[in-house]
Amino acid sequence: MKNRVFNLIETVATSSCRCPAHSHGHATNLMAKNFVSLPNNNVDKDYAFEMACSTIRYGLGVTKEIGMDMVNMNVKKVCVMTDPYLSSLKPVKTTLDSLMKNGIAFELYDKVHVEPTDKSLDDAAKFARSIQFDAFIAVGGGSVIDTAKAANLFSCDPEAPLLKYVNAPIGEGQPIIVPLKPLLAVPTTSGTGSETTGVSIFDYEPLKAKTGIANRALRPTLGIVDPLHTLLLPQRVCIYSGFDVFCHALESFTAIPYTERSPRPSNPIFRPAYQGRNPVSDVWAVFALKIIRKYFKRAVYNPDDVEARSQMHLASTMAGVGFGNAGVHLCHGLSYPISGNVKTYIPEDYSKDHPIIPHGLSVVMSAPAVFEFCAPMCPERHLEAAELLGANIKNAKKKDSGKILSETIRQYMLEMKIENGISALGYTKDDIPNLVKGTLPQHRITKLAPREQSEEDLSQLFENSLTVY
Ligand SMILES: NC(=O)c1ccc[n+]([C@@H]2O[C@H](COP(=O)([O-])OP(=O)(O)OC[C@H]3O[C@@H](n4cnc5c(N)ncnc54)[C@H](O)[C@@H]3O)[C@@H](O)[C@H]2O)c1
Ligand SMILES: [Fe+2]
Repeated sequence: MKNRVFNLIETVATSSCRCPAHSHGHATNLMAKNFVSLPNNNVDKDYAFEMACSTIRYGLGVTKEIGMDMVNMNVKKVCVMTDPYLSSLKPVKTTLDSLMKNGIAFELYDKVHVEPTDKSLDDAAKFARSIQFDAFIAVGGGSVIDTAKAANLFSCDPEAPLLKYVNAPIGEGQPIIVPLKPLLAVPTTSGTGSETTGVSIFDYEPLKAKTGIANRALRPTLGIVDPLHTLLLPQRVCIYSGFDVFCHALESFTAIPYTERSPRPSNPIFRPAYQGRNPVSDVWAVFALKIIRKYFKRAVYNPDDVEARSQMHLASTMAGVGFGNAGVHLCHGLSYPISGNVKTYIPEDYSKDHPIIPHGLSVVMSAPAVFEFCAPMCPERHLEAAELLGANIKNAKKKDSGKILSETIRQYMLEMKIENGISALGYTKDDIPNLVKGTLPQHRITKLAPREQSEEDLSQLFENSLTVY
């Protein structure tokens, strides 16, 4: 049975998964249609890249404009989505006040599941369908924004079962051809960058697999990036979501160049979202790394430091635009089985009602091992990244680039009191074969790593991540 499950996951990933874990964009989603193709050899490497993201508005207190946005869009009734904890906090209150002030009717759905599941999305979809809404507003972290994307979709296709748009063979993988309603996303964590992406991720519980719906149509119409909300972030949420930004930047900066990715698409509509690094994504990654060096620790340990928290919020969106187009690689590839197979781990500062390994924590766990492994393929980039993060590389040798970058990362992890490796999250050496099996289907991102990996390599990466310090 277990093997059948893994085979199924493997098929999902190789055939049609379009979640960020294996996202190759909107293209596969549209394969069913007959697109004109250039007569080129499909195994050629690509020669072009394309940048896409949501419209973003950034500023302290900018959430108060949201009611006016609704008026400007001629919205009469809006569905506001959030999670139970945020429901009574200021980001939601500010949003609702602005709606009331501008005479916009709304309903509040505050049952979003932190790290959404098929069941929780189904519940949100039922709510969205039960009332005629003109628009959606998501106020929260990646969990809320991803849930609102799905709720919008299912309210616009009222008869569709949940699996209609989910990647085949778990779902039917159908293209989104129904017009969606406006979705405004107000991120409250500095982490996922979901306000810029067209992806909704969830745990498909029957298979213990992360999957998703991915289509540019899902992208929020507008991301309202208001750093005031991050002043409330509990310390561990600030740390874990900050390491998500950290790894988005490092992985997109060290991914293979877009000119090394193959196959070259036969029609631009098939060009994947995750294309490999390019000169534009490098700008976002470098920006985010510089911000992290200057502000990450300050933001974590000084919750009232408006400047530091504002800068980290901006870095989150910036890194989101960068990785949303360049891709991520091994830290994210290894993170999906780490979070998907959670046993009993319940982190501080998160709801105690179910075990979770928060996304950013699952991602950073393997970072020291991953970058030491990848560095020999592009030592200059690894040294440059280490320097951007504060390492002194004056007399550094290329052959030491992996050690230098991983030691730099380890220092950040230590300063933020990150748990000592996956063993601290409940895994032992005996779990490694299972974790490797869970990574293999993620090859659409793992192949963006600058160094190819055998199963033995993956196993060694997990083993090297059992403890970090
Ligand atoms: N769509 C994408 O592009 C994308 C990318 C990466 C990750 N994700 C997904 O996003 C989810 C993780 O999102 P996340 O890391 O943003 O966290 P989250 O949305 O899961 O929230 C984490 C916790 O922080 C609390 N919280 C959020 N903002 C707060 C604030 N301002 N003040 C106080 N508490 C606050 C929440 O109530 C929750 O308990 C995962 O499901 C992950 O798979 C999506
Ligand atoms: Fe991430």
